[in-house]
Amino acid sequence: MKRVEAYIKPFKISDVQEALLKVGVQGMTLTEVKGFGRQKGHTELYRGAEYHIDFIPKIKLEIAVPDQMVDKVVKAIMEAARTGKIGDGKIMILPVEQAWRIRTGESGEDIL
Ligand SMILES: Nc1ncnc2c1ncn2[C@@H]1O[C@H](COP(=O)(O)OP(=O)(O)OP(=O)(O)O)[C@@H](O)[C@H]1O
Ligand SMILES: [Mg+2]
Repeated sequence: MKRVEAYIKPFKISDVQEALLKVGVQGMTLTEVKGFGRQKGHTELYRGAEYHIDFIPKIKLEIAVPDQMVDKVVKAIMEAARTGKIGDGKIMILPVEQAWRIRTGESGEDIL
């Protein structure tokens, strides 16, 4: 099992959610975060207004997926979240050592 972590532009969340449901993702966690990449937030527009601060609002998505689903999920996020402009975000893949569904006690990929 892997955890896909995606930092995306807030206005892209619906498109990304729809794309992820289409490829069969069963659940996800969304967090409102602030961050910056290599432009340090200085030249990026957010809802029309230029930010003069370092941290730009982003959405962080965390999605646990079976190993064989990772490529599909990355592709879905990549296509749905891209505008072609700076600040489109990043996708990172992390290994998940173990996981449980609390209600049933199931573990591993059975929880997905
Ligand atoms: N190295 C990093 N570690 C953790 N989070 C990061 C990192 N780089 C970017 N992020 C997160 O991703 C968001 C979007 O980054 P961004 O797309 O601006 O990266 P970039 O490298 O500057 O690429 P681009 O040139 O396309 O803007 C940041 O606001 C931050 O939340
Ligand atoms: Mg950037």
